[in-house]
Amino acid sequence: MQKILILDFGGQYTQLIARRVRECRVYSEVIPFSAPIEDIRTQEPCGIILSGGPSSVMDRDAPMIDPAIYDLGVPVLGICYGMQLTAHLLGGRVERATEREYGRIRVTMDAEDGLMEGMSTESQCWMSHTWQVYACPEGFHSIAHTDNCQIAAFACEEKRIYGVQFHPEVTHSEEGRKLLDNFLKNICRCRGDWTMENYAESAVQQIREAVGEKGTVLLGLSGGVDSSVAAALIYRAIGDRLTCVFVDHGLLRKGESEQVCEVFSHLFPVRFVRSEASERFFKDLRHAKDPEKKRKIIGRDFVRVFRKEARKLGKLDYFAQGTIYPDVIESGQGTNASVIKSHHNVGGLPKKLGFTELIEPLRMLFKDEVRQLGETLGLPKELVWRQPFPGPGLAIRIIGKVTPEKAEIVRESDAIFREEIARAGLDTEINQYFTVLTGIQSVGVMGDERTYDYTVALRAVTTDDFMTADWARIPYDVLTTVSSRIVNEVKHVNRVVMDVTTKPPASIEWE
Ligand code: XMP
Repeated sequence: MQKILILDFGGQYTQLIARRVRECRVYSEVIPFSAPIEDIRTQEPCGIILSGGPSSVMDRDAPMIDPAIYDLGVPVLGICYGMQLTAHLLGGRVERATEREYGRIRVTMDAEDGLMEGMSTESQCWMSHTWQVYACPEGFHSIAHTDNCQIAAFACEEKRIYGVQFHPEVTHSEEGRKLLDNFLKNICRCRGDWTMENYAESAVQQIREAVGEKGTVLLGLSGGVDSSVAAALIYRAIGDRLTCVFVDHGLLRKGESEQVCEVFSHLFPVRFVRSEASERFFKDLRHAKDPEKKRKIIGRDFVRVFRKEARKLGKLDYFAQGTIYPDVIESGQGTNASVIKSHHNVGGLPKKLGFTELIEPLRMLFKDEVRQLGETLGLPKELVWRQPFPGPGLAIRIIGKVTPEKAEIVRESDAIFREEIARAGLDTEINQYFTVLTGIQSVGVMGDERTYDYTVALRAVTTDDFMTADWARIPYDVLTTVSSRIVNEVKHVNRVVMDVTTKPPASIEWE
């Protein structure tokens, strides 16, 4: 499989580079800048990209690389810090810019082919730098400039080494995608034939090799996208040597528990254990009001139930988890690309169960790629495109004490809200939407009777990353239907309100 390695110098856009390369259908991996050159050589990359980063090459402790990287015969593209580092290591001159460039800047491209084939002469690019290259290393020449920066990109065609001061991976760089595609296709000679089907095949091979002819695997299935896709993939590799344990805490959304059981008993017939534990969870939660306390009780009960089920199953060899790539990159463990790794301190559950090795077949995939893989493997669309759902489930959407009756109210109102959003065709526009059972009761009238019942709040947000969010502007007629259906169809609700707060200052969930 053709592969691009991205050396990470701590830039905020490093993950984006990896995504953009994959969008050009070339497989890419992020590795720390300090990866030994021998590791890089043995991975046989088609190209190397040096990311941006917060340092200056003039800092005493600036992150450096072995300049032998430039002699591997593999094309190199340095981006921002990566370009300055290349200049610095190969004998060019880097200095503090007389004028710092930040934001969208017009760049004039002074080359017409190779890296810049098919690009406009003037292109808007995203810049963010205080240092810049003032003299190219020997054998290099400038291929782009701005008003303040004579060397906004450079090239040494003979050695296939390039640098750009701007960030082609950011969408604000109008033709950035084209530039990256040129680097991959024209310079690195990548075929651009990486597909999810390929990925699934190679992951299946790796799982088979890791687990061996007879090895068995235990996976905790939550019903969420990641664990479900991991289960489907491992099932493809080892069939019913995979055992999945699904702890049903009674706080899932309407129809979810049934769907998980259906999919993993029929579509992917793994050895499937469903532990019906709602009574225990509700009993232990009955006095808890504080959100953190509720989370802790659920976490603790989950481990206990899971451990009890795992003990009944006897010894299994490996523990599988649906860890995904952003978690891996953020925890700085990017070097290990295989699906298996020694377990150190992740999550705690495998350790408590006595497992020392983990299978993590999604550890090189971004969230949207996990969804694509799920579709490739044949999981139902509703499951694969599911919105995020918190581990503690509906418990943190019931303000204060949790009871089975309250869970029923929030489950039923949530189902109505989801149904109407889908009917209005808004389910792909709004990133997360759900109902919350507020702790408020208020007076109403139903028929001729006075009521004193609960208030349900609608929460719907649009967001890219769930770190910040805006409240979704849902058309009034959709809200009218949702509100009227909820008060008519869900017992003990006589009022519906809408949460119109952004994050920050509010969080997406209410608890
Ligand atoms: P907040 O409420 O912090 O939520 O704005 C951001 C995203 O994280 C989800 N969330 C959780 N997910 N366990 C989870 O697995 C949790 O305890 C938890 N709390 C919030 C939330 O649904 C949203 O997508």
